[in-house]
Amino acid sequence: MKFTEIKLFAPATIANIACGFDVMGCCLESVGDTMVIRKTDDKGIRIKAITGGSLPFEPEKNVAGVAIMAMLSDLKREPDFGFELEINKKIKPGSGIGSSAASAAGAVFGANELMGRPYNRHELVKFAAEGERAACGSPIADNVAPALLGGFTLVQSADPIKILELPSISGLYATVIHPQIEIKTSLSRDILPQQVALKDAVKQWANVGALVHALHENDSALFAESLQDHIVEPHRSKLIPRFDEVKKKAIEAGALGGGISGSGPSIFTFSKTLQIAEKVANTIEKIYDETTIPFHLYVSRINETGVKILSIK
Ligand code: HSE
Repeated sequence: MKFTEIKLFAPATIANIACGFDVMGCCLESVGDTMVIRKTDDKGIRIKAITGGSLPFEPEKNVAGVAIMAMLSDLKREPDFGFELEINKKIKPGSGIGSSAASAAGAVFGANELMGRPYNRHELVKFAAEGERAACGSPIADNVAPALLGGFTLVQSADPIKILELPSISGLYATVIHPQIEIKTSLSRDILPQQVALKDAVKQWANVGALVHALHENDSALFAESLQDHIVEPHRSKLIPRFDEVKKKAIEAGALGGGISGSGPSIFTFSKTLQIAEKVANTIEKIYDETTIPFHLYVSRINETGVKILSIK
C-alpha cells in the first residue's frame, strides 16, 4: 500500500536523567508536537506551515528539513517525489524537553513511512541526530533516541551511533516544569568544566550503573537513589530560579527524585503514581506562583513507543 500523507505525534523527551549527561533519555506520553508530512510531485523538501514556534522555513535551516536531507543522502536511490511538512509545535523551542529532537525524529519517521520504510527506528536515530547538529552544533542523540524508540534509552556510542533500549519502572509518571526563561543550550554547555575530579566521576558512573540496574529490576527505590548528578547540575542549577527548592519540596511531596531536563531550564521529577505526580505538580506550582516567571507544568506517563502515527492515508 502506498501512502501519501501521514500525521504524527512527535513526543517530548527528558535527556540526561540526572546522572547520565548526554547518554540517558526518556520519552513522554502526553507532551509533544503534531506533524503532517505529505508526498509531493516536486522533489525536495518544503516546510509549508509552522505553528506554535518561530522557526525557520528554509529546510536547510530547520532541524526537520536537515534530518530528512541526511536520510535522503544516505539512500542508494533518491525517491522521485518530494515532501511537504506542517509542524505544530507544542514543545516550546529552548525548553529543555527535546523540542528540536521531536521535530527531527518526527520528520525522519514520517518521511521513512511514506517511502515504504527503508529504515528501522534504530537506523533513523543517526539522521535525526543530524537535525540536532543543526540545532546545537553536535549530533547528540540523547533526546532523538527516546523520541524515536520510546521508553528509556542509553547512547552507548555516539560515533558510530549505538542505542540501547532499557525497560521502564512500571507505572512511572514524570512531572515537568518549564519556567519560561531563556537559557541558551550553548551557554549551558559552555559553563560546564571540561575536566572533572575523579572522585566525582566515580560517583557519577556508579549512579549511571545503578540507574540502568534499577530499570532492569523495576526497583523504584534504587532508581530514586541513582537520580543524582555530581557533575553537571551543580553548575547549571544556578541558572534556574528556585531549582533547589523545587527539587527538595518535590521529593518531600513524594517524588522519587529529579533534576534538570536536558540543558534546562525545565526541571523534571519522577513519581510512582499519577496521584503523587499531581501532588508534586501542585507543590512546584506553588513555588513558581511566588515568582513572576511564567511557566508550563506537565504531568505525563512514560511513552513506551516513541513517535506515534495518528493517521496515514
Ligand atoms: N544532553 C544535552 C545537554 C542536552 O545536557 O547539554 C540534550 O541533548
